[in-house]
Amino acid sequence: MRLIIMGPPGAGKGTQAKQIVKALDIPHISTGDIFRKNIEDKTELGKKVKSYLDGGKLVPDELTIDLVMDRLDQEDCKDGFLLDGFPRTIHQAEALEEGLKDRGKSLDRVLNIEVDPSILVERLSGRRVCTHCGASYHVTGNPPKEEGICDDCQAPLIQRQDDTEKTVLDRIGVYESQTAPLIDFYNGRDLLFTVDGSLPITKISEVLINELKK
Ligand code: AP5
Ligand code: MG
Repeated sequence: MRLIIMGPPGAGKGTQAKQIVKALDIPHISTGDIFRKNIEDKTELGKKVKSYLDGGKLVPDELTIDLVMDRLDQEDCKDGFLLDGFPRTIHQAEALEEGLKDRGKSLDRVLNIEVDPSILVERLSGRRVCTHCGASYHVTGNPPKEEGICDDCQAPLIQRQDDTEKTVLDRIGVYESQTAPLIDFYNGRDLLFTVDGSLPITKISEVLINELKK
C-alpha cells in the first residue's frame, strides 16, 4: 500500500507509523528523520537544512521533493511505503501526485491524526526520542521500561532540539498555514481517513490498522 500519515507536530505520526509499517511490512519514510540524520552526519544536505529545522520552518521544496522521489524509487518501496511528514505543502502534494503518476502509481490512503493544538506543547516537551531508531516516548504518558533507554534497541533517548515551547508553537503555526490545507486536498480525492489523536496510542493503532486491512 502507498500511504501518507499526516497531522500537526506531536499528533503521533511517528508513533503510529512504527506500528503500521510493522503490520503491513512496508518502509517508513520520515522526511524529518532523514533531515535529522543528515544534520547529525554533517552532510552537505544537513548543513543546508539545519537552520530550518532548528527554527521550526519548512525546508524549501527544492531540497525536499527530489529527495523523497529518489527514496520512493528504491527497491524496498516497490510494493508500498508510508510517508510521514511529507507532503507538507500543496506544492509538495501535487509534485508527489505527478511523480507517482509518471511511474504508473497512485496513493491508496491518507491517514490524518486530528489533535487539539492545546495538548501538543505538553506532548512535545515531554517527548524523548531514540538516537538509533527514532522511536518516540513520553516521560509520563509513554515512558520506556528503563529511564532514558529505548525498549527496542537499548540506545539512549534524547530530547529533540526543536521541542522547545517556542519552536513547537512556531511549528504548529506553520502546520496550520501550510499543511492543514492538505486535508481538503486529499478529502477532495476521496483518500482521507481521519482518526481522533487524543485516544490512547494502542487504540489509534487498532483503528488505523483495521481501516487499512478492510
Ligand atoms: P518532523 O520530524 O516531521 O516533525 P513534526 O511534523 O513536527 O512532527 P513530530 O515528529 O514532532 O510529531 P509526531 O506527529 O511524529 O509525534 P510523535 O509520534 O513523535 O519534521 C521536523 C522538521 O523537519 C520540520 O519542522 C521541518 O523543518 C522539516 N521537515 C520535515 N518534513 C518536511 C517537508 N516535507 N517539507 C519541509 N520541511 C520538512 O509523538 C509525540 C509525543 O506524543 C511523544 O512523546 C509520544 O509518546 C506522544 N504521543 C503520541 N501519541 C499519543 C497519544 N495518542 N496519546 C498520548 N501521547 C501520545
Ligand atoms: Mg515524527
